[in-house]
Amino acid sequence: MDETMFGQALGALRETAAGVSSAAQAGRLIVVSNRVAPIEEGQPTAGGLAAGVLDALQEMGGLWIGWSGEIAEGESRIQPERQKGRIRLQMLDLAQGDYDDYYRGFANSALWPVLHYRSALARFSRSHYAGYRRVNALFASAVAEGLAPDDIVWAHDYHLLGLAAALRAQGVTNRLGIFLHTPFPAAAVFMTIPVHEELARALCQYDLIGFQTEVDRRAFEDYVLREADGHLLPGRALMVFGRVVRTGVYPIGVQVDEIRAQAEPAAECPQMAKLRASTGDSKLIISVDRLDYSKGLNERFLAYERFLEQNEARRGAVTFLQIAPPSRTDVETYREIRLELEGEAGRINGRFAELDWTPLRYLNKGFARQALMPMYALADVGLVTPMRDGMNLVAKEYVAAQNPIDPGVLVLSQFAGAACELKAALLVNPHDPDAIAEALEQALSMPLAERRERHAEMMAVLRRNSLGTWRDRFLGDLHRRG
Ligand code: UDP
Ligand code: G6P
Repeated sequence: MDETMFGQALGALRETAAGVSSAAQAGRLIVVSNRVAPIEEGQPTAGGLAAGVLDALQEMGGLWIGWSGEIAEGESRIQPERQKGRIRLQMLDLAQGDYDDYYRGFANSALWPVLHYRSALARFSRSHYAGYRRVNALFASAVAEGLAPDDIVWAHDYHLLGLAAALRAQGVTNRLGIFLHTPFPAAAVFMTIPVHEELARALCQYDLIGFQTEVDRRAFEDYVLREADGHLLPGRALMVFGRVVRTGVYPIGVQVDEIRAQAEPAAECPQMAKLRASTGDSKLIISVDRLDYSKGLNERFLAYERFLEQNEARRGAVTFLQIAPPSRTDVETYREIRLELEGEAGRINGRFAELDWTPLRYLNKGFARQALMPMYALADVGLVTPMRDGMNLVAKEYVAAQNPIDPGVLVLSQFAGAACELKAALLVNPHDPDAIAEALEQALSMPLAERRERHAEMMAVLRRNSLGTWRDRFLGDLHRRG
């Protein structure tokens, strides 16, 4: 397809998604994800998927199908459709058993740890997997209802690896694509999931599989070629399980200008004024993460302790603000990490705090995304050190929020997807507390000219690969046949 045709196809998609033309003309866009962002203003966003999809859909409109976050009494059920601005929302309430097997069980106790290279934490059970398939089939029924032949379906993330297979089983032949927000691990790690082959077979019922980075895409391709008897076709397509599946790399981006506008001092809220007043002249290091073992919080706390040990002059002159909203609190490993971190934060503060100085401020609560932007802008250092992360939007948001005249410095894990693009950050190995401590000191003492240079380099990448680019490239490829 040439550029013009591509542009026309995308234009048609946009129009129909916005409800301008009828489904019969070019087909609607149907987005499916487990998590749906709170559509009401000012609510904390639960993770990068919801944040990214909300921004992408708000602009172009469309139907968004997902879990309501509610547990149904009795059977799982599909709620009546609601309209929020340009987005039509179709929510599912899950029965307790479905929630336990699918979300708490297979998705978050088995798949999530394995996808983040933490197989030792994975708890697999056949009944959880049966629940996962059951709920994927339920989502498929919601999608299939009223589906027109030209509609295209864009599924998101590890909760819905089986959605396409469930739709195909119902006779659906539409274009189906999935974007994986998490990493895809090396084949040997993926194979620790007992049903890996069945999962891969189901995944290949999609026409297009999108990944955050080339490392993830290659890992999937490697699995298909070595373990599933697949063959490479031109244009990153694969012939496997009797089908042609295309793969691609679509790093999710952020809305650069909106973020900077939200970060302006004029947009500050009372919470922000409190933070500014309480930090005074002291330097501020900020981290924002869901309370998840993949985020490397424990290792980060130890690195900060190392930094305080090694840099006596910084004591009393730096504050580390860790915002960590609890996540998946009914999954055992998440309860454990929360307890550990409470202990560590108390220990570090107990060791270093003075009457007038608290070295580590550890907040177990979430903030509305808009409220975070001025906090990023105020911070001298953004400390983002996941052990593994699909992308990490916080890293990108931190950069976009900075004042280009006097920007802060991003310290970033080499194992975050964002590290493939943000090469001008101070890249660190999150397993190495000394390296993080050194990077913190380097960031805090970095000359203005170097800060500006690094920031400008990262901003150029963020602008080139914005959230709109992510969406348009994925949908363009999904729309394109062959
Ligand atoms: N976020 C938020 N409020 C909070 C913490 C995080 O709105 O209190 C947002 C954050 O701004 C970012 C997203 O949640 O847009 C987190 O995405 P990221 O990719 O960094 O991590 P994930 O949680 O998806 O693993
Ligand atoms: C990550 C996942 C998303 C998920 C989010 C929040 O970003 O990739 O799929 O929505 O974490 O987790 P939760 O379990 O609350 O949806």
